[in-house]
Amino acid sequence: MPKQIKAPTSQFVCSTCGYVAPKWLGKCPDCGNFNTMQEELVRTEQPTPTARVGVSQMKTRALPLSQIGFAKYERVKSGISEFDTVLGGGIVRGSLVLLGGDPGIGKSTLLTQVSAHLASTHKVLYVSAEESCSQVKMRCERLGLNSDNLLLLNETCLEDIETEVDGCEFVVIDSVQAIYTESLSSAAGSVGQVRECAAKLMRLAKSKNVTFFIIGHVTKEGALAGPKVLEHIMDTVLYFEGEPQDNFKLLRAVKNRFGSAQEVGVFEMTDSGVKSVSDYSALFLSETRGLAAGSAVTPSESGNRCMSVEIQTLISRTPFGAPRRLSLGVDYNKLVVLIAVLEKRCGIPFYNADVYINAMGGIKLGEPSVDLAICAALASAATDTPIDKYTALFGEVGLTGEIRPVTYAEKRVNECIKTGFKRVILPAKNLKACAKYADKIELVPVQYVGQMLKTLNLKQNKGETE
Ligand SMILES: Nc1ncnc2c1ncn2[C@@H]1O[C@H](COP(=O)(O)OP(=O)(O)OP(=O)(O)O)[C@@H](O)[C@H]1O
Ligand SMILES: [Mg+2]
Repeated sequence: MPKQIKAPTSQFVCSTCGYVAPKWLGKCPDCGNFNTMQEELVRTEQPTPTARVGVSQMKTRALPLSQIGFAKYERVKSGISEFDTVLGGGIVRGSLVLLGGDPGIGKSTLLTQVSAHLASTHKVLYVSAEESCSQVKMRCERLGLNSDNLLLLNETCLEDIETEVDGCEFVVIDSVQAIYTESLSSAAGSVGQVRECAAKLMRLAKSKNVTFFIIGHVTKEGALAGPKVLEHIMDTVLYFEGEPQDNFKLLRAVKNRFGSAQEVGVFEMTDSGVKSVSDYSALFLSETRGLAAGSAVTPSESGNRCMSVEIQTLISRTPFGAPRRLSLGVDYNKLVVLIAVLEKRCGIPFYNADVYINAMGGIKLGEPSVDLAICAALASAATDTPIDKYTALFGEVGLTGEIRPVTYAEKRVNECIKTGFKRVILPAKNLKACAKYADKIELVPVQYVGQMLKTLNLKQNKGETE
């Protein structure tokens, strides 16, 4: 039976000035900006706040903090330990989880595995808007997954999906760009559609206590579904990242209302699906460590875990006046500042050299504690002297060349011991806290970058600060 045609329920609003038009316009007649008109739903009444849905239609009153009940979050294990870790210890009931990532990275595979595990004890619905049910079935066969509690649905209309959600505890939407709501006339995947569908799913999740996993594609600009329209609605936003040629992938929490947003999960992509990697430190260390000049290792804290990560640098002389600086996994500005510190404070010349830096394994290092290892790697490359294989470093470097203390010093030293290091160079102010490890690892406190270079025998020219 053909679907009933409804009266127009949407309008077009300029995202810059708020001008409202009944039809789409390329240029806003009010502010004159191009391509700013976005479709929005016309609401005749205000939406019910999520806290009141299904509870009471009475006016809510402000309450003192002491009188507010404390709801403990119920967490369910997903069957994939790294996935649970990134979520902050398991899946929270009634939450909205967005999983973003490049095409073909393994988003559907990961969530199919999670769904199949959850289906052993719960009722799970997998809405495949992009692939046919037989394609999903084929994937399940390949991954060796089978469960009668796992329902598959090949549907793109959100209103039809809503009716199927009844009675399910976990729902996977693959993907949010492929579904549409009938209340908007714009095409599936447009900013208006994605925003409206996500808002409807959010109301559904909170009112029925259903957990939604929503897959989102990363757009050309690298944002999820356009201008980050989804992220503020979601409880948790995860990005699945990795180089196509690498076997392992990183799952990174970008936002998490129920745990740390610094968590990183390490996965391996195998024929039989996505697997957690527990010995993750080995991934970020190379085999040539200690042989070639230009590499240094630092224990990096990310979420609740510490990982030893190798930083590699390459320096090549250039005849051009403006040498190149290229950084992967390390902030570009940080690199430029540290090069200036080494040049000015330690007399190592970089003005006539291109500098390339890379954090191994595609990990991103954002902490200040990696500064010292970056300086060591740069000085090692510049002086062509390899750093001992069993030495790790951490510490923040100031503009005057002083080494400042960092957080989680004990945890970092402990990680170095676990990974088999014999010596760790650390800020002098962190030494006291780590003194208890002195019998297991040699602790070398330093106050200036120059001291670190001396300890590592990286010969330096006459510097201004010792
Ligand atoms: N038969 C197979 N054997 C081994 N690995 C496979 C096989 N088929 C697919 N894969 C792996 O699974 C990956 C694709 O996984 P998946 O479809 O889950 O990605 P996706 O992120 O959902 O992609 P899309 O953006 O297209 O939806 C491929 O990159 C490949 O590495
Ligand atoms: Mg997919």
